Amino acid sequence: MELPDYVKARKRNREEVIKEFYQLPEELKEIGRGKKYFLKTYGCQMNEHDSENIKAMLESLGFEETDDYKNCDLALLNTCSIRENAHNKAFGMLGRLKHVKENNKDLIIGLCGCMAQEEGVVSQIINRYKYVNFVFGTHNIHRLPFILNDAINSNDQEIEVMSKEGNIVEDIPVKRDSKYKAYVNIIYGCDKFCTYCIVPYTRGEQRSRDPKDIVREVEALVRDGYQEVTLLGQNVNAYGKDLDYEYGMDKLLEDVSKTKIPRIRFMTSHPWDFTDEMIDVIAKYDNVMPYVHLPVQSGSSRILKLMGRRYTKEDYLKLFDKIRNRIKNVSISTDIIVGFPTETEEDFKETLDLCEYCKFDNAFTFIYSKREGTAAAKLEGQIPQEVAEDRLQRLNKVVNKYFLENNKKLEGKIVPVLVEGISDKKKELFGYTDTNKLINFKGSASLIGKIVPVKVVSAKTWSLDGEISE
Ligand code: SAH
Ligand code: SF4
Ligand code: F3S
Repeated sequence: MELPDYVKARKRNREEVIKEFYQLPEELKEIGRGKKYFLKTYGCQMNEHDSENIKAMLESLGFEETDDYKNCDLALLNTCSIRENAHNKAFGMLGRLKHVKENNKDLIIGLCGCMAQEEGVVSQIINRYKYVNFVFGTHNIHRLPFILNDAINSNDQEIEVMSKEGNIVEDIPVKRDSKYKAYVNIIYGCDKFCTYCIVPYTRGEQRSRDPKDIVREVEALVRDGYQEVTLLGQNVNAYGKDLDYEYGMDKLLEDVSKTKIPRIRFMTSHPWDFTDEMIDVIAKYDNVMPYVHLPVQSGSSRILKLMGRRYTKEDYLKLFDKIRNRIKNVSISTDIIVGFPTETEEDFKETLDLCEYCKFDNAFTFIYSKREGTAAAKLEGQIPQEVAEDRLQRLNKVVNKYFLENNKKLEGKIVPVLVEGISDKKKELFGYTDTNKLINFKGSASLIGKIVPVKVVSAKTWSLDGEISE
């Protein structure tokens, strides 16, 4: 048994990152033959991508996927720790799985992802969720076949969570959810330690992948007909800072651009590390999409300081204006937290003012959620839930107004759209514009997977309606 440990998780040792390669021993290749797995994923794109690796590993063991958790042999939850409600969802699902297991004693239940890295969660699993067979963390996904095999052959809980990130493991198999869009990890972990955030504990020290491995992966995607890659990291702008040679996000974007993949996106960008060189590269290369997700978190410099964000409101606005002015037709989205400890009505109004100024194309808004082990959890002045909820509603009203206003500006324009499929609701084609806006339009299914010009006919708050432009 190897348990998570926050003291170790907090350390940043700056050890040399060693690369290793995934290997599956012959004797494990049949352990899932004839069996079905159910995998539920919570959280961000990084978790979604980890799940793509998990699926491929399970299928290489002979398992087949099912979306029916009531009829499976293996149920695995890939969890998220970012806010309390992500926790509650996963624990709720474990409760449902308990009932399923009462009628199917052979059901194997596993938990992985960010919650597995939390000391408190793992001790709950040991003490109160004894029917969970195995737990592994974010640093040892590649060990899944071994841990699962042990769990199948043992009556004890198998718990293997490394608190210290290990090597970067290349060549983990992947079963991508889309044939046209792909996630590509570029940097693991985060060293920013924003005071509210659990991620530096659950994902460990910042480690960049070798740029050659990234370019090699994108080249293979181009050969397979992929149209779009999203370069992933908690803070992609810090890419390269831990390499022992001069190479940063601007260079990586440039090198990935040269693979001729039609579309490149990246997320998330921390405002602190956004360089002029990066702005130049985004502006220069047509296949780097004019879309930047730039979380601001708060419009009050006092709160930003307490959050440990390392920029003031003025710094943010300066960067925002620079991006807006230098990248043609750029769209900018953001994340905002309301109700951070000690946030006053005046602080909150500064956030509203900033949103009135920035007129974001999209914004993900959250009520602050206290995370055990983070610095902000110890702050005095926690904000009552009803005050935070009221602020969230008022904030949403402001940001939504601008989503619609920005979308309306596109009416009558022709925009490039990567067609992704047919929507369940409208039975029309849907896809995303270069600026990452969802658009629905009528057309032949043969367009799926292609980038086509679409004329925007009418704008709504969350999406556009269009028609194919000949
Ligand atoms: N790495 C990204 C954010 C990843 S988490 C960045 O730095 O921008 C995604 C978003 O969740 C954050 O931007 C933040 O707005 C929100 N978030 C993170 N921790 C939170 C918490 N404790 N309570 C509420 N929202 C939180
Ligand atoms: Fe969390 Fe801050 Fe790191 Fe983003 S940059 S993952 S908010 S600590
Ligand atoms: Fe959640 Fe972990 Fe992502 S905490 S947001 S799944 S990095």
